[in-house]
Amino acid sequence: CGIVGYLGSHQAAPLLLEGLGRLEHRGYDSAGVAVLGASGIKVAKRAGRVRDLSDELPKRFAGKVGIGHTRWATHGPANDTNAHPHVDSKQRVAVVHNGIIDNAAALRDELGEAGVDLVSDTDTEVLAHLIGRSEADTLEAKVAEALGRIEGTYGVAVLHVDFPDRIVVARNGSPLIIGVGDKEMHVASDLAALVRYTTTVAHLDDGEMATVTATGFTTYRLEATGLSATNRRAARVDIDPSSYDAGDHESFMHKEILEQPAAAERVLRGRLDQRFATGHLGGLNLDARELREIKRIKVLGCGSAYYVGQMGATLIEELARIPADAEAASEFRYRNPIIEPDTLYVAVSQSGETLDTLLAVQEIRRKGGRTIGLVNVVGSAIAREVDGGIYLHAGPEVAVASTKALTNMYLGFAMLALQLGRVRDMSIADGRRLIGALEALPRKIEEIIATDDHLAGVAERLAEAESLFFVGRVRGFPVAREGAQKFKEISYRHAEAYQTSELKHGPLALISPAVPTIAIVPDDELVERNVAALHEIAARKGPLVVVTHDSVPLRGIKAERIVVPRSEVELDPILLTVPLQILAYHAARHLGHDIDKPRNLAKSVTVE
Ligand code: G6P
Repeated sequence: CGIVGYLGSHQAAPLLLEGLGRLEHRGYDSAGVAVLGASGIKVAKRAGRVRDLSDELPKRFAGKVGIGHTRWATHGPANDTNAHPHVDSKQRVAVVHNGIIDNAAALRDELGEAGVDLVSDTDTEVLAHLIGRSEADTLEAKVAEALGRIEGTYGVAVLHVDFPDRIVVARNGSPLIIGVGDKEMHVASDLAALVRYTTTVAHLDDGEMATVTATGFTTYRLEATGLSATNRRAARVDIDPSSYDAGDHESFMHKEILEQPAAAERVLRGRLDQRFATGHLGGLNLDARELREIKRIKVLGCGSAYYVGQMGATLIEELARIPADAEAASEFRYRNPIIEPDTLYVAVSQSGETLDTLLAVQEIRRKGGRTIGLVNVVGSAIAREVDGGIYLHAGPEVAVASTKALTNMYLGFAMLALQLGRVRDMSIADGRRLIGALEALPRKIEEIIATDDHLAGVAERLAEAESLFFVGRVRGFPVAREGAQKFKEISYRHAEAYQTSELKHGPLALISPAVPTIAIVPDDELVERNVAALHEIAARKGPLVVVTHDSVPLRGIKAERIVVPRSEVELDPILLTVPLQILAYHAARHLGHDIDKPRNLAKSVTVE
């Protein structure tokens, strides 16, 4: 979900709507604003997109203080009532909230018994009532008292009719940023909503609260005994506001696919050491001795970050010969994992805010494990929590389906593998071979992007199928998983990934002329086995699209070929992944879907 807030000399409503439009990638099933004006708090909210809200917003929504929200439903369906802001019974308090209140059911019961009429199904509404019923003197004390009653996570912004000069915000597990403008102030859950107005910002920490007025802000720590000042100051962030605009592109995903060669160059820049044929990752905070002591690597991420984590683990194991695997961060901490002192835990996240990944990192740290992050958003929660890391420098990624950040995650892993390998038994010659291949990757990605017309044609045919398989082996299997993920999330077609070797142990039963298979077949040690599996699919009349190198002989198999440039075999996965992004993009476009905002999803999921 996304939060915005404004106080200043302008009318709040149009600014809030503009900010919400820029946060829609955070959730887009409903939106709302509350404005505090001369006649109290006015609220407009509804299911649907921000533009639907703008169309309906009453013209006379006057007021220079306001908050807004775009929702990704957790408690209760997406309807007008469940949309935020939520108000107390007298409409004297308005609240927007990201996160989940775990004890909401108990608090709802308690409020119900006290005679409060709860109108929505949400957990958030209880906060509005608790604040409204508090007898504390100041808004800060009322909010602190209410937050003291709840268990769970939050980023919140609160308006109160008795305190019309301020918005009170607080953070615990869900980001909250204050933006300092010229005689005006902004609040938001994401920089994307602020950068058009200001790049001077302060990030709240977990457990922090702030009073924001039109001229400044004050921060406190929420403690059992009350509030203690934290004196946080705002600082400039180095971000180009235009990087949040789609420009001439009809979607952010398209723009971000095309940005990959430049983004790849940025993540590699200054991090490849020719002289010693190794990676030069200063942010790891690990010296050669510490790198050598690592006995195992565990990679954790969610969604696409998990799949690229699996590519990364395979790469590390292969190049550095350290046992490595990847696991969904959302599952990890619930199986009481064994945390080992000589394991390096690698958290992968574009946003750096995915709560499942953050909680996994916190669990590891609590038990004494060493963590690093592969994170795109500088200063994000995961970036701040880990012991060291690699920033991905992909630039802001807005489309829900990750493309350039994912590519840079892979390159981050490649450099990590190189550095780990070179303090073990990787030779200088091997190190140089990989560095040369890494430097050549941006141009090769460009070559793939140049085949867009061909890929569009293939995608349009694939889009007609209700169900598809993506298959690959060893290095190619996570490629297939990521390919299926992209395809299903934006085209809404059922796409399932399988190890090519496992097809014959079950799923072959589903192969028919109606079910195409996209097979990942690089020219590597497994090519003969992979081509044999293609025969098995072709014999069952399954349509085939083969993502491969031009040197691979298909031996008369009828298949659509998608050829990618050769790299070193260990680095093939990323070049095999790029055409799958483009296929998914064109399939979704052909089907007329909203490419950047696929149904039911959100870019960063800050709830468990
Ligand atoms: C959400 C998005 C996915 C993304 C995942 C991890 O589920 O819909 O596209 O891969 O979160 O996001 P992160 O920001 O941690 O990389």
